[in-house]
Amino acid sequence: MLIQTSDLEACSFQNWYPVFKDHTINSIIISICKDVVSYLLEDSTLVLPVEVCSSTSNKYSDHEGDCLDFDHDEEAPSEVKQPSFPAFSKALKDGINQLGGEVFMKLNWSAPVDAAWITPTKSLKCTTIEDIYLLLKSSDLLVKDLMCSMQQQPPRSVNSCIVLRKWQNMDPGNEFRCFVCKQQLIAISQRDYKVYYVHLAQSKYQIMEEIAKFFKEKISGNFPVPNYTFDVVRHSSNKIQIIDFGLFNPKRTMPLLFTWGDLCAKERNLNAEIPTIEFRILGEDPGILPNPHAHYGIPQDFISMRADGNDSSVMDCVVEEVENQGLREATEDDS
Ligand SMILES: Nc1ncnc2c1ncn2[C@@H]1O[C@H](COP(=O)(O)OP(=O)(O)OP(=O)(O)O)[C@@H](O)[C@H]1O
Ligand SMILES: [Mg+2]
Repeated sequence: MLIQTSDLEACSFQNWYPVFKDHTINSIIISICKDVVSYLLEDSTLVLPVEVCSSTSNKYSDHEGDCLDFDHDEEAPSEVKQPSFPAFSKALKDGINQLGGEVFMKLNWSAPVDAAWITPTKSLKCTTIEDIYLLLKSSDLLVKDLMCSMQQQPPRSVNSCIVLRKWQNMDPGNEFRCFVCKQQLIAISQRDYKVYYVHLAQSKYQIMEEIAKFFKEKISGNFPVPNYTFDVVRHSSNKIQIIDFGLFNPKRTMPLLFTWGDLCAKERNLNAEIPTIEFRILGEDPGILPNPHAHYGIPQDFISMRADGNDSSVMDCVVEEVENQGLREATEDDS
């Protein structure tokens, strides 16, 4: 399924936020200038900007106040010039203050969920600009996001932006992903799809009706493309808030308790004026399953080692790889 530019534009935060401001979390959008984009895409030693060191008690600085670089590679140059983005850093600082001191951060489409492991709290809650720069510099998902806005045709039809959202403690058991086809809500899945929640089984029909009502009253007709997904959180009865919009596309959006095969079949069969909505929740406790984001903390090499249908444990793969390297070195020495 091709990704349509119009879908990407519609789901980019700065395009949907002004329309749905009253039904989502208070947020501030800051555009990212070319210099900052280049710094973020630079694949070199991690050096945080000057403003980080001068702003706070320097948890990432040494006792003389110089910023520590996080790459302990001995071959890295010892004198690395620290970049400086005074206006951007000030906008970030002001944004954090305006939103009450604790923010969630994302770019046009994605949050740095793959980099949460790098922060001191192991969460995406940011209270300082150093938290923000650390996440910005450590997330591959954000690099993809930046590349995506840069590759848009016509150029710069979607400007890169950073979004600061007021931090809100989320109850994952009350988050839902909703799938819309031809402007009709066709499916809903619990967002935290690996955990069994008793209350969902008990209130399934009420929740579905409330989400359908919310969709009809607040979203339907106000989103500019026919096919999309939206995520909501239900705080209490009839108190629903939009978290995000996403593309109705297997390349960009997780189908959670559906498969893209299921959803595309629903799309093909969509002819009733008011389609039935299918709401999927986990019906029983699956036991303890790995956190879907846990693999982001594992080095990419480990993941690719196991990618070719190799069922061995990670440790077996490492041992095998080390033995292979030994063999290769021995062969090279002989020749
Ligand atoms: N303001 C906020 N405060 C705290 N947590 C938040 C906030 N906004 C979002 N989250 C949490 O972060 C998760 C991911 O948010 P979001 O959908 O914006 O990121 P994403 O990169 O688009 O993720 P996905 O690709 O799964 O859609 C949400 O499910 C929610 O639990
Ligand atoms: Mg999203």
